[in-house]
Amino acid sequence: MRNKLTIGLFGFGCVGNGLYEVLNQSGLLDAEIKRIVVKNPNKERKIGKENFSYDKSDILLDPQINVVVELIDDANAAYLIVSEALKRGKHVVTANKKMLAENLEELVQLAKDNKVSLLYEASVGGSIPIIRNLEEYYNNDSLSGISGIVNGTTNYILTQTNYGKDYDTALAEAQELGFAESDPTLDVEGFDPKFKLVLLIKHAFGLNLKPEQLFNYGIRNIKEQDVRYATEKGLRIKLFARAQKNGNELYGFVAPHFIDSKNTSYNIDNEFNAVSVEALFSDKQLFLGKGAGAYPTASAVLSDISALQYDYAYEYKKSAGSNDNLEFTEDFFLKIYIGSEFIEAIQEIPFYSIDEVFQSKGYNFQTGWVKFSELRQFNFNALKDLFFAILPDAFLGEEEFGVKKEENLFLQVFNS
Ligand code: HSE
Repeated sequence: MRNKLTIGLFGFGCVGNGLYEVLNQSGLLDAEIKRIVVKNPNKERKIGKENFSYDKSDILLDPQINVVVELIDDANAAYLIVSEALKRGKHVVTANKKMLAENLEELVQLAKDNKVSLLYEASVGGSIPIIRNLEEYYNNDSLSGISGIVNGTTNYILTQTNYGKDYDTALAEAQELGFAESDPTLDVEGFDPKFKLVLLIKHAFGLNLKPEQLFNYGIRNIKEQDVRYATEKGLRIKLFARAQKNGNELYGFVAPHFIDSKNTSYNIDNEFNAVSVEALFSDKQLFLGKGAGAYPTASAVLSDISALQYDYAYEYKKSAGSNDNLEFTEDFFLKIYIGSEFIEAIQEIPFYSIDEVFQSKGYNFQTGWVKFSELRQFNFNALKDLFFAILPDAFLGEEEFGVKKEENLFLQVFNS
């Protein structure tokens, strides 16, 4: 039997408004929005003032409301709303990746203790149903890696700069189109994809990581010469969030990558996101769809609301499975490109081996192998003079790296 859902909606920005329209248009759900609470009474909105109230108790204390949909911008305020709603026995649907990544363990426990569901498909990959697929479809031990483009704003900027637009214009367009966070630093410095990666790792591998454990580097320091380097080699720059299992170890981070045309994300443009899931027997599978924007994001919120009609809840099976021994590590090696106006800035970075060096007045670059745990000590988002990106197929565990070096195969194999 389907549950009757009475919704209290927090927030009426881009996604909230999108949900309102999508819910009214779809007509498929036995669900009614009883109340919408917003912060600012003076803001112009697409529907009349009579539809809004400004006190969160109007939703949280209303016993008829059994579903809280949280679509506000402020992660701290969202945390207070969501935790209170769960404590009051209301199901929660949210798209707030920052709030979730920072408080996931506690909120999951709260939902469990109060026998309600906490669903958040819209928080990762917009319209792509990746969380539910990771939850339901893949076995405990068969997943070996997950990587992809999970930020629409930066993918929009990278696509547009690749076609010659300047960075600031592309960012302004992404903001105008409703893709960017209200503080776009979260997008362009790679924080937003990192929050999403925390959630992906939880559902793919069962590991509870805090955002501060994961390295994030975005695209704000990218220069025209870096884009030209990529173009001349037939490569494209994409901001990837990735997590990879190697035996009992798991690597995870967010950083720009140079990818070649063999990579399934090569042609993923603008606000589209793509998540590649690697499993033992199925090999690679690609989930593709719009990752930002009002309607795509609202579609995932709608799907979560719809799932509540049948009492759906995440089970977090992988948190109690054969990944118990899995350990997060930063001891691995990467082959990277670093470009800068200043050769001294490049020389600060410890390289284990150098493949290519280019020096000229105004632009220098170097490629070679670095140890991730050493690389991540630098605050690259703040180092405006440097841009680094990971080169294709350039990922080795500490042991593999040591063996290659010892056998002296290293340069022959990886220079090719
Ligand atoms: N700012 C985010 C993005 C919105 O650009 O992907 C969707 O999570």
